[in-house]
Amino acid sequence: MPNVTVIGAQWGDEGKGKIVDWLAARADVVVRFQGGHNAGHTLVVGDTTYKLSLLPSGIVTGTMSIIGNGVVLDPWALQSEIARLEGQGVSITADNFAIADNCPLILPVHRDLDVMREAAAGKGKIGTTGRGIGPAYEDKVGRRAIRVCDLAHLDEIEPMLDRLCAHHDALRAGFGEPPVDRTALKAELREIAPFVLAFAQPVWKRLRDARAEGARILFEGAQGVLLDVDHGTYPFVTSSNTVSGTVASGSGLGPNAAGFVLGIVKAYTTRVGSGPFPTELTDEIGQRLGERGHEFGTVTARKRRCGWFDAALVRQSCAISGVTGIALTKVDVLDGFETIRICTGYRLRGQEIDHLPSSAADQALLEPIYEEMEGWTGSTKGARRWADLPAQAIKYIRRIEELIETPVASVSTSPERDDTILVRNPFADR
Ligand code: GDP
Ligand code: IMO
Ligand code: MG
Repeated sequence: MPNVTVIGAQWGDEGKGKIVDWLAARADVVVRFQGGHNAGHTLVVGDTTYKLSLLPSGIVTGTMSIIGNGVVLDPWALQSEIARLEGQGVSITADNFAIADNCPLILPVHRDLDVMREAAAGKGKIGTTGRGIGPAYEDKVGRRAIRVCDLAHLDEIEPMLDRLCAHHDALRAGFGEPPVDRTALKAELREIAPFVLAFAQPVWKRLRDARAEGARILFEGAQGVLLDVDHGTYPFVTSSNTVSGTVASGSGLGPNAAGFVLGIVKAYTTRVGSGPFPTELTDEIGQRLGERGHEFGTVTARKRRCGWFDAALVRQSCAISGVTGIALTKVDVLDGFETIRICTGYRLRGQEIDHLPSSAADQALLEPIYEEMEGWTGSTKGARRWADLPAQAIKYIRRIEELIETPVASVSTSPERDDTILVRNPFADR
């Protein structure tokens, strides 16, 4: 099985973009299978930094890039992202980019609803990216979404708009907002349709053919397992399944398509938005992690919350997602810490537990159990061989591997594409 699936094993922003970029050069096709432009994947190549939200990261290396049906697509966001990347010299044409024609659209009404709900929730807000992701997935499951293929039939769209607007107008009225402006929406859809349709096709078929030809398919996950709508810290999650299992339903291939599942794991923990975070550090150590790791959101520029590595969470993510091996990123951020802590489990109401309980009430009460390790004085930044790492850094990595019960396939030591220690190339694993 020559395929590789990349997923985040924490709360997102683990460094998936960098790893996907490295793997994309060795792949024939790169596929996004869930999420939308809530994602923010950063690629650093020499002096150039690329930030991708909706486009698969393979587009930068010119690898065939596909948006699968599991994604929710904001066509206007896509248009501006393509324009931005073209401005950076990336070529995006129907020869290297395709969109599933059964992909649901994110419309302005979804963005409106996302923002209105968050504003109304006050302190209880989820801390979403405000991109309309949740409302768009709700409409997909509620069978009132407008999809990419519908853009070719705008003359027959009235009954679909009836269904959509009946739902949204009622909600908007509850927020004291006017009903959906159907005339304006239709005009906007008419204007954007040719742009989207130029890339639209039944991608399941294209992927089936690619597989038959022995192509190496790279699946690019967005967010992370702890933001998964089933397995994450519900309700403080995103609205899609972010686990590796979604590869099949989100791209139109069978469940054996995932291949090598590479979990991307940050050497400490971060989270953006609200919700439980057992190892969060609100002191100067958290501050230092944030500064050294430049922990600001790619999409919303919000400051990311930072904390120690939580092995219990990652062990759970790896199990739930069937992770074959991990890529450990941002080890260099820990350079110079005198001592480093790893969470190995929790105390909940006096009892020791080794996993994240499902209930939000329990999650909020977790007290982390730590073990402490000596830090290292040398630098790991830019290391490309084990021999370049201080002995104590190797010890830390080995301990993580042991605690999460999953082998390390690579270690990333800077944002730069090639600053990686490769233990096992997932694509070489046939
Ligand atoms: P993604 O959402 O998982 O793709 O991650 P983001 O791109 O949102 O955030 C990861 C950030 O860390 C980006 O700014 C990357 O350039 C950067 N990064 C990735 N790997 C490393 C690494 O090994 N060391 C350091 N210092 N930064 C890294
Ligand atoms: P990448 O792919 C980190 C978080 C939001 C919020 C929650 C719900 O870059 O790792 P949503 O807008 O999806 O309804 O927000 O999910 N979130 C992310 N956090 N990285 C991401 O993507 C995220 N995408 C969504 O901050 O807490
Ligand atoms: Mg990100």
